[in-house]
Amino acid sequence: MPRLTLLIALAALLTGCSLLAPTPPYQNPKLSVDKRTEDLLQRMTDDEKLDLLSGAGWMDTRANTRLGIPAIHMADGPLGIRTWAIPGEPDTPATPKSVPATAFPAGIAMAATWNPDLVTQEGRTLGQEALALGRDQLLGPTVNIQRTPLWGRNFEGYGEDPWLTSRMAVAYISGLQEQGVIATVKHFAANNQEYRRNTVNVLVDERTLEEIYLPAFQAAVEEAGVWSVMSSYNKLNGDWAAQNPHLLTEILRSKWGFKGFVVSDWASTHATAESLNAGLDLEMPGASTMPMLRQFFNTFPGGNPGFDGGYLTKDKLRPLLASGKVSKQALDDGVRRILRAMFAIGLFDRTRTTGGKVDTPEQRALARKAAAQGIVLLKNDDAALPIRKEVIHTIAVLGPNADANPSGGGGSSQVTPGLNPKPIDAIRERAGADFKVEYARGGPEAIALAKRADLALVFAGNNADIEAEMFDRKTLDLPEGQADLIAAVAKVNKHTIVVLHDGAPVTMSPWLDKVQSVLNAWFPGEEGAHAVADILFGDVNPSGKLPVTFPKRIEDAAAFGHYPGVNDQVSYDEGIYVGYRHFDKNNIEPLFPFGHGLSYTTFEYSGLRIYPQTPRYGQLVQIMLKVKNTGSRDGAEVVQVYLHDTKPGLDRPVKQLKAFRRVELRAGESQDVELTLDQKSLSFYDPLVHQWAALPGVFDVLVGSSSKDIRLKGGFELFE
Ligand code: BGC
Repeated sequence: MPRLTLLIALAALLTGCSLLAPTPPYQNPKLSVDKRTEDLLQRMTDDEKLDLLSGAGWMDTRANTRLGIPAIHMADGPLGIRTWAIPGEPDTPATPKSVPATAFPAGIAMAATWNPDLVTQEGRTLGQEALALGRDQLLGPTVNIQRTPLWGRNFEGYGEDPWLTSRMAVAYISGLQEQGVIATVKHFAANNQEYRRNTVNVLVDERTLEEIYLPAFQAAVEEAGVWSVMSSYNKLNGDWAAQNPHLLTEILRSKWGFKGFVVSDWASTHATAESLNAGLDLEMPGASTMPMLRQFFNTFPGGNPGFDGGYLTKDKLRPLLASGKVSKQALDDGVRRILRAMFAIGLFDRTRTTGGKVDTPEQRALARKAAAQGIVLLKNDDAALPIRKEVIHTIAVLGPNADANPSGGGGSSQVTPGLNPKPIDAIRERAGADFKVEYARGGPEAIALAKRADLALVFAGNNADIEAEMFDRKTLDLPEGQADLIAAVAKVNKHTIVVLHDGAPVTMSPWLDKVQSVLNAWFPGEEGAHAVADILFGDVNPSGKLPVTFPKRIEDAAAFGHYPGVNDQVSYDEGIYVGYRHFDKNNIEPLFPFGHGLSYTTFEYSGLRIYPQTPRYGQLVQIMLKVKNTGSRDGAEVVQVYLHDTKPGLDRPVKQLKAFRRVELRAGESQDVELTLDQKSLSFYDPLVHQWAALPGVFDVLVGSSSKDIRLKGGFELFE
C-alpha cells in the first residue's frame, strides 16, 4: 500500500477510537465552571443524576465511571482531619482510631486567639492534610453560637459573639478552600444543644435568628464563598432543618446567593420530596450505613425514634420524579450545585497524588503556636507567672489533667493526634535541670508534695468524655474532687497556680480567691502541653482573650430557664440577649467577662480619633488610636471596639463587638491601630421590613482590652 493511503487508513482508524475523540467541554479546565457544569449536566441521564443526591457510604458520594465524575471523599472536622480511610479506599468508622493527623486546638481556643490570620493558616494546613489523606471535603467549621455554656459541642465553635465567630469562619474557610478542599459550614441552623438534638423544635424569632445565629453562616457564604453548608438535626420553627424552605432556599439562596450545595447532617433527613424541594441537595451518609446510625442515636436520651433515613435514594426519588412530585428542575438544581462545587474546587482536574504529609514538624509547630496564642491568663496575682528560676526551685505538678492532654472534646470532631505529649512531660522537658519537678495525681500524697514545693501547679478541667457531641453537661462544676483538690493544695501552698482544660466555662467560685493564677488552656490540640509550658515559663507571653463570658454560676447564664425546653420544644426567649449582651442588659457581674485575658506586660491606649464625626448612610467610619506596650516584655494585645447606640429605635444590646485587631508590640513599642466600621456594623435587623437597617443617631464607640475594661470612649453621629 502506498505510504499516503496507509496514513489515511491509520488516521481513519484512530479518529474512530477514543484516543482522538474530542475532549468534552466539561473536561476542559480552561472553560468556566458554569459552562463545564451545564455541559456535564446535559450529558447525564436522570438515573445518573439521581445517583448523586445521596452518599455511597459513610463519607463518600458516588462516582460515575461512564462520564468520569469522581466521588467526593469527605472527612470530619473541624479540629483536624478525622478519617479512617487510607487514600483511594472508602471510609468506614470500623476501628476506634482514625488515621493520625494534626489535632489543632478546639474552635473555642482558636477563637481565643482573636487572630484570623492564624486561623487562615490553620485552614491551609487542614487543606494540605485533607489532600494528603485523599479527602476533598472537610466537614467544618462549626459556627453555632454558644447559647448555653452547657452545650456539649461548645468547644467546636467560636463562642458567643456573632462578629468574632464570623471572622473566624471566614478565615478558616478561605484557607481551606484556597488549597482545593470544600469547606462545610455547619450546622445550619440553631443547633445549640445536644440534648434531644435529633428531635427538638427550636423556636426563635426572626430578629434573633438574623442577629445572633445566622451572621457566621452569612459571612461564610457572602465573604468566604463556602461551597457547602450542612443542615442541622433540629427543627427550626416547626420545620426540620433538612427540609426547611425558609432556611435552605429563601435565606441561603435567595437572600445570600449561595451557589454551592447543602448536605444533610448525618441521618437528619425525614422526607424525600419535601427535602429536595426545600433545597437539600445531598443526603449523607449512604442508605446502607443508616441503620448503624439509628442504633447509635437511640442509645442517647431522645435518640431518634422512628427515624428511617435513606430518603434521597434513587429508588425513592424515581417514582416521585415520574409522578411530578419532584420536578426535573429540582433534580437538575441539586445536581448542578454539587457539580458546580466540584468543578470550582478543582476536583475534576485533580490528578491524585499520594505522598502529601500529615503531622509534620511544621504543621505541629503551627498547632503549638495556635494553642499558645489561645491560652487565656484569667488571673495573675503578684505576677506569680511566669515561673522564674530566681525564686522557684521545686514545682509540684498535681491533678488528673497533668497526666493527659485532652486535645479536643468528644464526638465526630475527635482527631487522632500523631503525638500528644502530656503536660507533666512537657513541663519536665522545659524545666530541665533548672527546676525539680514532682508529680502526683491527687490524694494525701499530692498535698504533701504541694506543702514542700515552692510552687504548686494543679491541672484540672474536663475531657472528651465530659464535653462531647450527643449530650450536654449537667453542671458547670469541675469533675468530682477537683475543686476540693485545688482548695486543699491552696491551703498548704500560697503559690498555687491552676491550669484548666475545657471547651466552655467552668465554675471556680469555691477556690478562685485562694489561688494566685489561673490559665485557661481550653482543649488545646496535640501541642497543647508544650504551649502550656511555653506560657508557664514565659517563653511566650499570653495574649488569648475569652470568646465567651464565664458566669459565676449557671443561673446567671443567658439561656437559664429557657433551656433545654419541654416536650421537645425549646423557645429562645432570651432573644438577642446571648452572652455578654445578657450580662450587660441585666447588670450581672460575670466571673470573667467576654474579651478578658491578661498579659505579662501592660498596654496603654491613647489618642482615639473617629472619622468622619458625622457620617452619612453607607459611609465607612474609621477608628484610629495608639497602643503602647508599657511593660518590659514583648507581647500582644487585642484591641476591641464595641458600639453603643445611644437612642435606639428599638431595644438594642448595651454594646456589641464590631471590630477588633490583635497587635504585636515589642517592649516599649507603640503602634497606630486603625479599624473600620461599615454600615452593617451600625445596623440591626428590622423584622417589620425583614431587612437590616440603620437609623440616624449618636453612637458611642467603646475601645477596650475586654468588654468590661473600656480604655477609650468616643462617638459619632450618623445622618441619613
Ligand atoms: C455531626 C456532624 C458530623 C457528622 C459526620 C454528625 O453527627 O453532627 O458534625 O460532621 O456527624 O460525622
